Amino acid sequence: MGNTRANKTFRSQEWFDNPNNPGMTALYLERYLNQEFTREELQGGKPIIGVAQTGSDLSPCNKIHVFLMDRIKAGIRDGGGIPMEFPVHPIQETGKRPTAALDRNLAYLTLVEVLHGYPIDGVVLTTGCDKTTPAMLMGAATADLPAIALNGGPMLDGWWKGERAGSGTIVWESRRLLGEGKIDYDEFISRVCASAPSLGHCNTMGTASTMNAMAEALGMSLTGNSAIPAPFRERMAIAYETGKRIVQMVHDDLKPSDILTREAFENAIVVNAAIGGSTNAPPHLQAIARHAGVKLDVTDWETIGFDVPLLVNMQPAGEYLGESFFRAGGVPAVMGELRKAGRIHESAMTATGQGMGKNLDGWASEDTDVIKTYDAPMRVNAGFKVLSGNLFDSALMKTSVISADFQQRFLSKPGSENVFEARAIVFEGPEDYHDRINDPDLGIDENCILFIRNVGCVGYPGSAEVVNMQPPDALIQQGIHHLPTVGDGRQSGTSESPSILNASPESVVGGGLAYLETGDAVRLDLNNSTMNALVDDAEWEARKAAWTPPEIHNQTPWQEIYRNTVGQLADGGCIELATNYHKVAKDLPRD
Ligand code: FES
Ligand code: MG
Repeated sequence: MGNTRANKTFRSQEWFDNPNNPGMTALYLERYLNQEFTREELQGGKPIIGVAQTGSDLSPCNKIHVFLMDRIKAGIRDGGGIPMEFPVHPIQETGKRPTAALDRNLAYLTLVEVLHGYPIDGVVLTTGCDKTTPAMLMGAATADLPAIALNGGPMLDGWWKGERAGSGTIVWESRRLLGEGKIDYDEFISRVCASAPSLGHCNTMGTASTMNAMAEALGMSLTGNSAIPAPFRERMAIAYETGKRIVQMVHDDLKPSDILTREAFENAIVVNAAIGGSTNAPPHLQAIARHAGVKLDVTDWETIGFDVPLLVNMQPAGEYLGESFFRAGGVPAVMGELRKAGRIHESAMTATGQGMGKNLDGWASEDTDVIKTYDAPMRVNAGFKVLSGNLFDSALMKTSVISADFQQRFLSKPGSENVFEARAIVFEGPEDYHDRINDPDLGIDENCILFIRNVGCVGYPGSAEVVNMQPPDALIQQGIHHLPTVGDGRQSGTSESPSILNASPESVVGGGLAYLETGDAVRLDLNNSTMNALVDDAEWEARKAAWTPPEIHNQTPWQEIYRNTVGQLADGGCIELATNYHKVAKDLPRD
């Protein structure tokens, strides 16, 4: 090949083909040549495409990517690139203790380090389970290398005795039946396991389906990527197409900074409301936006998203699961309907190399029972409310899951529509909740609001999905399936509970929830988006002055690093110092 390089196009050539430093080039080459690669491949002027592998035995939701890898690599080869797969720290939503959320920033951090420190020119981000998707997008945003997201896809629909059994939703329902004594432990386990009939991620519109819809709405994947069920042939096909496409993106230098614009985030917020998406989307999108250097605020979710109608009839806000959603057209069909109503920024650039509007040409709902039209939606005003008051600067409420029963019981008092005054019951965490929820001395009735604190980013750590607390068994037996609940943690994206969550700042750092006491009167006012403890100012200030933060117990070094660097959920729960780093792939590391 001689010692002069014809063209210096890609950053990987700094490693593999740098005539100014033959010593290092030889060192890099000899070790990468001892696996499947040849000199011709590594010095032939082709881009090296990293494939960030999130699937493993520890990450069953993303395990499909292990089997899709041949197709991804074939696409990269046929596109003219050289694929190099590398592992990502596993983040399994239901398996990782104390929380998977704790590890989102760890996976982010390690991805940034890999993209910065290795000979990679572009990357395929394999996504799926809840936190894997934002972690990958956050890392790509910081690195700012050409990047494309590939979902593994939802599992097939689950069924139990002729009824759809959705991920998560079957758990909440079965817990109630167990509480009411209508099923036993074995049936409880069988019902829940029936919701997971194949490889793939959660088949409901929980956080996994939501975040992959967000990746697509942001323009970071091929059109139609997110909804294809994991075992379908279309999933294999789009894995191949995604591999092929990333190579062209590298040639075109189409980077996350070209795609992740303010318009893209506004599109995502609108889509999240229309799909009945997870309350985990706001912190994740906030984190992606901050790493991309885009200004977004938690209040944008109400101002941009609240008046968007719910179009998707999928659990937990509706009845269907992933297979039906895919057949009805998936995310592009939803966006096609939103586009007709003028709710989509059409010029937002996407991974296809075209504006979002062009991608959506020809897309509309294929089944209006599953994906409604804008003018005949499931419900109007389906976005999030962003509440504030003396208990928190911000907290979210997902209005698309407010049931008629809940509306009637708590929010329809004559003369004070959408206002609810009640007695606070305060729990110090999930253990305290489980210990005391059935304690008759608490006198919990339907004029109570359940609060949980110490479960935010610093408190838990990682912010736990525990805010959707079930009422005491005695109330459930009377047919009261939900009480209003509030907390500084999160709730599962599959929950149908209209909780008030992600309260920021959290109590352990001195947020208002810290000063609330059981028995305090609390007022929720959805007309004005406020929630306040009705405690007089002098008393409130006295409690504040007397407050000492609870003791924090770190169990691992990462927990301590995380707690010392993390921000609040309203700000994305980012490693705060990491938001100062942008376009790090451009700043080549030393040999
Ligand atoms: Fe992994 Fe739902 S638990 S996708
Ligand atoms: Mg979850």
